[in-house]
Amino acid sequence: MLNLVLFGPPGAGKGTQSQNLIEKFGLIHLSTGDLLRGEITQGTELGIEAKKLMDEGVLVPDSVVIGMISNKLDANKDAKGFIFDGFPRTVAQAEALDNLLESKESAISGMIALEVTDAELEQRLLKRGETSGRPDDANPEVIRKRIKEYNDKTAPVAGFYKNQNKFTSINGIGAVEEIFDSINTVIASY
Ligand code: AP5
Repeated sequence: MLNLVLFGPPGAGKGTQSQNLIEKFGLIHLSTGDLLRGEITQGTELGIEAKKLMDEGVLVPDSVVIGMISNKLDANKDAKGFIFDGFPRTVAQAEALDNLLESKESAISGMIALEVTDAELEQRLLKRGETSGRPDDANPEVIRKRIKEYNDKTAPVAGFYKNQNKFTSINGIGAVEEIFDSINTVIASY
C-alpha cells in the first residue's frame, strides 16, 4: 500500500501534485481543506464552525480533522493507498494518523515536502484569489497568517517523520511537471 503525506506551506502545490499522483497510482486523495470546504458548502454545523477559523487563516481543532480522516479511511477499506494533502498539520494529528493506520495494519510510506519561498507562496495564493472565491486567498494578511500557522504548528510535523526516516524534501518551485518527476523519483525509492 502506498500511503503518501504531501507536505508544505499554503500554496506549495500539494493539491496540484495530488491530481497527477491520483491518476498515476490510483490513490484516494484525502484533502482536509477540501473536506472542510465541502462541509461549508453543505452548511453543516461543523462547516459553520470551521468557516470562521478558515477565513481567519487559523487551524481547525485536531479532533475535527482526525474524525473526518478516520471516517474516510473506514469508507475506503479496499483502497490501493492514500495521498494525505494538508493533513497531518500538527504533531497530534500525525500521532493519530499513525494509530489509525496501525489499527488497519498499514503505515505511512513517506512524507514528501515541497519547499517554496514565502514570496512565491504569497504571489501564487493572491493570484488564485482573483478567481478562486476562497476568502482565505483574497487577503494578504490572512495569507501571512496561514504561513505563520504553518511555521508555528505544522513545520514541526516534519521532525515527526524525520525521526521515522520517512522524510524527503524537494524543490517546489519550477514547472509542475518537473516537480512531479522529482516526486516520482522519491516514490520509486520506497
Ligand atoms: P487547505 O485547503 O489545506 O489549504 P492550504 O494548505 O492552506 O493551501 P492550498 O491547498 O491552497 O495549497 P496547496 O499546497 O494545495 O497548493 P495548490 O496546489 O492548491 O487549508 C485551508 C484551511 O483549512 C486551513 O487554513 C485551516 O484553517 C483548515 N485546515 C485544513 N486542513 C487542516 C488540518 N489538517 N488541521 C487543521 N486545519 C485544517 O496551489 C496553489 C496555487 O499555486 C494554485 O493556483 C496553483 O495553480 C499554483 N501552483 C501550484 N504549483 C505551481 C507551480 N509549480 N508553479 C506555479 N504555480 C503553481
